[in-house]
Amino acid sequence: MQYCCYKKNKLYFEDTSLLSLAEEFGTPCYVYSKAAITQSFKEYKNAFGSRSHLICFAVKANSNIAILNLLSKLGSGFDIVSGGELQRVIAAGGDPKKVVFSGIGKTKEEIKFALSVGIYCFNVESYGELDCIEDVCKQLNKTANISLRVNPDVDAKTHPYISTGLKENKFGIPWKDAIPMYKKAKESMHLKIHGIDCHIGSQMLDKLPFIDSVNRILRLSDDLQKIGIKIENFDFGGGLGISYENEIPPKPKDWVDSLIKAMGDKTNRILLEPGRSITGLAGIILTKVEYIKKGEDKNFLIVDAAMNDLVRPALYQSYHQMKEVIKPEDSEGQIFEVVGPICETGDFLGKNRKLALKQGDFLAIMGAGAYAMSMASNYNSRGRAPEILIEGGTSTLIKKREKPEELFNDEIIP
Ligand code: LLP
Repeated sequence: MQYCCYKKNKLYFEDTSLLSLAEEFGTPCYVYSKAAITQSFKEYKNAFGSRSHLICFAVKANSNIAILNLLSKLGSGFDIVSGGELQRVIAAGGDPKKVVFSGIGKTKEEIKFALSVGIYCFNVESYGELDCIEDVCKQLNKTANISLRVNPDVDAKTHPYISTGLKENKFGIPWKDAIPMYKKAKESMHLKIHGIDCHIGSQMLDKLPFIDSVNRILRLSDDLQKIGIKIENFDFGGGLGISYENEIPPKPKDWVDSLIKAMGDKTNRILLEPGRSITGLAGIILTKVEYIKKGEDKNFLIVDAAMNDLVRPALYQSYHQMKEVIKPEDSEGQIFEVVGPICETGDFLGKNRKLALKQGDFLAIMGAGAYAMSMASNYNSRGRAPEILIEGGTSTLIKKREKPEELFNDEIIP
């Protein structure tokens, strides 16, 4: 997928010049490509063909309602982890009946809200939560579809902060509790057993741990079948990685093909909850060089984007490619630490980058379509950057830049 490339020495995203965008909307800003999002969603969809499935985009990856609206129109369902995300899905025109509710700490109010709009399924993560959902159902005289998110104790071989399927992780129901909990759920008049769910981690580059978890879940469903508990849906979570630097992750088709192969003759409905692999490479951050500072050991490129706009490098030491918006023909560039203006040594966006840039030039940071704006903060009273969706040569503002006064409007001097 190459939607961001040079034409002569100017960087374009689809047919839109990034220089014109930076000048029109100011920096920093997030820019997303409609074609890139559409393509990656369709790669998943086409891989399933006529097989019964539901792709539930993980809203936490990119929760702008214009992006959710685009995905909803393409037929996507949604994986949510809060009442706020559910409100976004509804505001975006998404269908609550295609929503799965994940997360370990759903509150009573969130459960009520989800039941009242009729979501597809709750992915339950503990006994306490199962009891809470049952109580709320009793009060409202409703029945909830539930899947148990089991922890298959599989190492996703990814960064420890985004690995979720090991028994030491806080996620999922311990393997040994799965069958007793299914039995308990079966006894309830207010709970309808819908399926089994798991999600073992994010930015996975290797199919094997994923397929390992699939096989374990399939064996669990056979064991449940033997005691009269029928599983209709399998939700195998998200987690497929993308190429930030030079990684070679499997393609969605390959991921789905292997999954379908592992299913053997089972024809149950399959759910997936991809986030990063749908929007990650479809977004960039545009930023301006404010200053160049020559240190004793290192040269710093001080840009106007910071860790509040993209926290991934600081939090996971993650790598994001960087490209000059105008590539000079006469300069080789030099090695920089690319840093933001926030008062933290951890506020860096890239280390050891060879770039040909001077004060006032623009830089594009790749791989910022997932877990970038959705993890942005207002640290240092920085308003969050605007978001722009492009389609061919047309650009549309899909979120305005936050003004500093909006950040303290709700504060009260007693
Ligand atoms: N389903 C569940 C239950 C999840 O917890 C997640 C991600 C997903 C689906 C989507 O996973 P994806 O397909 O996007 O890998 N902030 C981190 C990533 C945290 C992922 C949390 N859960 C990052 O920037 O790398």
